Amino acid sequence: MLSQQDLKQQAAEAALAYIEPLLTREAVIGVGTGSTADLFIDGLARYKTRFRGAVASSERSAQRLTALGILVLDLNEVATMPVYVDGADEINEQLHMLKGGGGALTREKIVASVAQTFVCIADESKLVQTLGRFPLPIEVLPLAREAVARVVQGLGGVPVLRKGFTTDNGNQILDVQGLSIVDPLGLEQRLNQVPGVVTNGLFAVRSADVALLATQQGIRQLKV
Ligand code: 5RP
Repeated sequence: MLSQQDLKQQAAEAALAYIEPLLTREAVIGVGTGSTADLFIDGLARYKTRFRGAVASSERSAQRLTALGILVLDLNEVATMPVYVDGADEINEQLHMLKGGGGALTREKIVASVAQTFVCIADESKLVQTLGRFPLPIEVLPLAREAVARVVQGLGGVPVLRKGFTTDNGNQILDVQGLSIVDPLGLEQRLNQVPGVVTNGLFAVRSADVALLATQQGIRQLKV
């Protein structure tokens, strides 16, 4: 029986095999955040002479990449990237994701928006029928926290401030419990319109293109 850590490692290795044909001297790789993304970063170091560098979705991932000798570029220096690889807190069969457990949702969404292909890596426990059992993170400007919380309550959610946490962008996170997200696209767009919301953790407008899910029986690849 493989542990969750083993499964994460397998997902990371599957992503490395997936991106290997895309590596060129000019290629810049988009890199996500989290424990699964960390394993991907560690493996990416084996290929570091075969691509130009990476754009990181968090300070944490940037530090890990730099420590392994991988050049970290500012997104403003990069017009295109062949692939972005990241984990998820939940993913459904349509490859909509709920992300942001690590608090990096805003930069993740921005970096992913520039990539041609979004590869989601996770262990099979992240695959769900309906998103929302994992609390939905919303990054908010601090001054708007209570105003956003009231709107979220009106939508049936229970917002909880992530205490003692500040995002890389200097903002706060509301983790919203109690949502059964039957329309991820609609809710993502609705929340984006609330003044003071920087980003919400639904990735449905820009969903994954490929999911590499590690199961006890091997890698399950999902595409839409
Ligand atoms: C960070 C994220 C991560 O992708 C998500 O939390 C999954 O993390 P892990 O691979 O540690 O389970 O969205 O903001």
